[in-house]
Amino acid sequence: MKLILINLYPKETIARYLLSSYVLKAYVDKSFERDKNISIQVLNFNAETETSEICEKIIKHNSDCVGYSCYIWNIEKILDIVKTLKNRLNCIHIFGGPEISLHTMQRLPDSNRTNYYVIGEGEKKLANLLTYLKNKNADFEAEVPQGVAYWNKDEVCYKKDTDKITNLDKIPSIYLNGILDNCLYTGGQAFLETQRGCKYKCNYCIYHKHLSTIYYYSLQRVFEELDYLIIKKRIFALRIFDAVFASNLTRAKKIVEHLIKIKENNRILLSCIYWEFNYYDVDEEFIRLVSSLKSRKKILNANEIPPLNRPQLYSEMLKGYTAINCFGIQSFHKESLRAVGRASIDIKALKDFMNMAKEYNIVLKIDLILGLPFETFDTYFEGLEFFLPFFKDTDHILNIHYLQVLPGSDLENKCKTYGIRYSLEAPHIVFSTQSFQEAEMKYASKLSAVLFRVINSPLRKYLFAAKEKTGKRFYDLIQSIFDNIATSQKFKQTRLLQSEYAYDVYWNNDIFQEIPSEWFLDVLKTI
Ligand SMILES: C[S@@+](CC[C@H](N)C(=O)[O-])C[C@H]1O[C@@H](n2cnc3c(N)ncnc32)[C@H](O)[C@@H]1O
Ligand code: SF4
Repeated sequence: MKLILINLYPKETIARYLLSSYVLKAYVDKSFERDKNISIQVLNFNAETETSEICEKIIKHNSDCVGYSCYIWNIEKILDIVKTLKNRLNCIHIFGGPEISLHTMQRLPDSNRTNYYVIGEGEKKLANLLTYLKNKNADFEAEVPQGVAYWNKDEVCYKKDTDKITNLDKIPSIYLNGILDNCLYTGGQAFLETQRGCKYKCNYCIYHKHLSTIYYYSLQRVFEELDYLIIKKRIFALRIFDAVFASNLTRAKKIVEHLIKIKENNRILLSCIYWEFNYYDVDEEFIRLVSSLKSRKKILNANEIPPLNRPQLYSEMLKGYTAINCFGIQSFHKESLRAVGRASIDIKALKDFMNMAKEYNIVLKIDLILGLPFETFDTYFEGLEFFLPFFKDTDHILNIHYLQVLPGSDLENKCKTYGIRYSLEAPHIVFSTQSFQEAEMKYASKLSAVLFRVINSPLRKYLFAAKEKTGKRFYDLIQSIFDNIATSQKFKQTRLLQSEYAYDVYWNNDIFQEIPSEWFLDVLKTI
């Protein structure tokens, strides 16, 4: 039996592959190592590739099954591919990945009723599904495995899986075992998972994979992979996929210490390592260790580089820090945090953490979400008003996402309660909630775009100077800049004014080209 796994990676990323299919291949290859009749191959495409081109390549492989890792950025393309293939190729289609849930499979067009749907973590279920298909082909009696959903006439059949991979080391390393072609990451970016699950389980999120506990790879395995990737393969960037890297702080410190050893013994400076944690998960020792990964003792790029007309965060503002410490605040509004299952912000602990980060000169990437239940236009901007002063004289990144109602998240079942209106089509953006009207959301999205343009660039010092000079709120300054743009003839055709909403991609990229730094400088200096 021949299976091909289709990876459609997002257009904007540096990496030209997705990790998921290779991890599946590693596990399934190992499960069938004595069965030469099962073969798996992975094909990578940019998600923007023409459907016809992808279909031709799939058809050429003439496989029995085609598996798809479905994400927000590729689900529509995958549906298009499967629709095209259904008329041309007699094969079994297997869907898996974060976009696939019992809810979403019921929303797909009827032509998808012959597919199999792997719900949640995929490795074991895919291996079991292949065994099932093999037995079925040989006319042996067989039952669709637990954790795999399918249609039987008009009914979805599914049995929850009880058998999880608890020892993650049982999944062979895609790097150390050569599963992933090393030309895809040598000298480039690599992804690493050191654990699975999250103890917090915020209801909008699916990173926790609904696992009841956190499972870890052994430290030995993590160290071997780090040595291989950094020393041998000379990657320049590493993205750690863990939901909360510091979920076990002692273990996280050991990993950072190992990275410091690699840096010092081999004189290698990675350009960036991303990891995520919560501010209350870490302590001063962790921050001190992270600080040792930097290239210089004191870095403040935002004050040293001129503002240009393109995004400068990743290329220049983060230079020298190595570790990009991402953490979520999500909202400062107590009721919103309670509604999504997060603890309220401990203001003192947060202030101590932010001050410590500044003292040790580490850089933070801080997530907020626009549109959480009970958030209002006013609470959203009040939260920013409180938080923005912490960005002064730092290179921290402000990162705001629109709330997305993700398939399989607990929030998906609570949308009626919170009056959440959202797009059923990926990326499932929220349009309005009971407390945040659609028009307010559109306006908040445009003001956020202007805020990003200024705060996430070397322009930030001029914003702080304007605030000190005028004594005005950040909100008033941003609103006044927006009004200036809106009344200026030369910006009439910008997407900021022409589009209904400004989305994250616009905040992070396009606005940098549409509205020049020189113009912002003039406005900020004369405000
Ligand atoms: C996977 S989380 C890890 C962050 C860290 N564990 C925390 O909660 O602070 C990464 C970020 O994705 C964003 N995120 C996750 N689910 C989201 C959703 N449904 N809509 C919008 N943003 C979301 C959140 O802002 C979150 O901070
Ligand atoms: S947002 Fe962060 S803390 Fe909450 S469930 Fe997701 S990964 Fe865990």
